[in-house]
Amino acid sequence: MENKKNISIIGYGNQARAWALNLKDSGYKVTIGLRSGSPSKNLATAKGFSVFDYESEPIESEICVILTPDNTHIQILERIKNPNCLFVFAHGFSVTAGNLKTLFPKTKFALLAPKAIASELRFRFETNQSLAAFYSLEFCDPKDEKSIKDLAEAIGIRNLYPTTFQEETQADLFSEQALLCSVLPYTINLAFQTLIERGYKKELAFYECFVEAKLIVDALLKVGPEAFFDFISPNALIGSEKGRLELIDNDFKQKFQKLLNDVQDPKHLQDLSSADVLNTKKSVNEFWKGQSLNKVYQELKETL
Ligand SMILES: NC(=O)c1ccc[n+]([C@@H]2O[C@H](COP(=O)([O-])OP(=O)(O)OC[C@H]3O[C@@H](n4cnc5c(N)ncnc54)[C@H](OP(=O)(O)O)[C@@H]3O)[C@@H](O)[C@H]2O)c1
Repeated sequence: MENKKNISIIGYGNQARAWALNLKDSGYKVTIGLRSGSPSKNLATAKGFSVFDYESEPIESEICVILTPDNTHIQILERIKNPNCLFVFAHGFSVTAGNLKTLFPKTKFALLAPKAIASELRFRFETNQSLAAFYSLEFCDPKDEKSIKDLAEAIGIRNLYPTTFQEETQADLFSEQALLCSVLPYTINLAFQTLIERGYKKELAFYECFVEAKLIVDALLKVGPEAFFDFISPNALIGSEKGRLELIDNDFKQKFQKLLNDVQDPKHLQDLSSADVLNTKKSVNEFWKGQSLNKVYQELKETL
């Protein structure tokens, strides 16, 4: 019988938990590296993982995946006892913005960036559904390709595409800023709020603006944009053109260009690296906590 492949993962947060469980289920022996006194130690051992303190104990596998927040990677690499293995990242940000290759010239880095949030990475693995990832070997040996491809398969990736650290970083930041974490949630909220303020029933506004948003994205993915616009109702089709022309004007398009220019600017990446995440998280949490959309979601979530 083939020996189990050893792999170390630094961190036991959102992505790390999904990677660790998927790898374990795929037959890897996973060891979790944590900082001294980490509150995650009990969580990891409860799932059967052995845990080591990466600040005082050496990494014993040939591959170590660093799955902590991007702005912690430099500090972690500085504290690792023997940085001789191949380090894998799930996002290109720290290598690109932190210039890790200059700081650690002898260390090998690979990128394996799943295009899924952590909960989907685990759920899709468990339910045998399609997952994609982008990889880069530009800062390691070409002979590491097999290990990265095996690793990708073991976390459930079916579609693997080459990229560079920089390309993945810029595209990822742009899509978060221009669409996924900005326009999408905030315009859903704005549309919902507009109906509520004009006296429409909260349940109706919730279904029209929030629940249907998911159904529309699901349909777009399932049939493709062309067929989607072919089968929506005549009112939806005419309404789509009206909304598109009124909302997505030249100004809006220019703002997309500006966001992309920013993520291509190294200074912007430095600003992001040093941003005050804790305070931003606090104020964003407070904003959403106070939104009617969140309150109606809490009331109706069991019915969805
Ligand atoms: N979240 C996602 O769905 C997602 C999607 C795609 C890519 N990624 C990428 O995956 C990586 C991990 O992201 P994540 O969202 O999973 O992170 P996360 O959940 O915030 O990571 C938490 C883990 O990081 C450890 N950690 C935090 N600060 C640390 C520090 N200063 N020193 C040492 N350990 C520290 C925590 O340690 P303790 O347990 O000791 O507190 C915890 O185990 C990032 O590169 C991210 O860009 C994430």
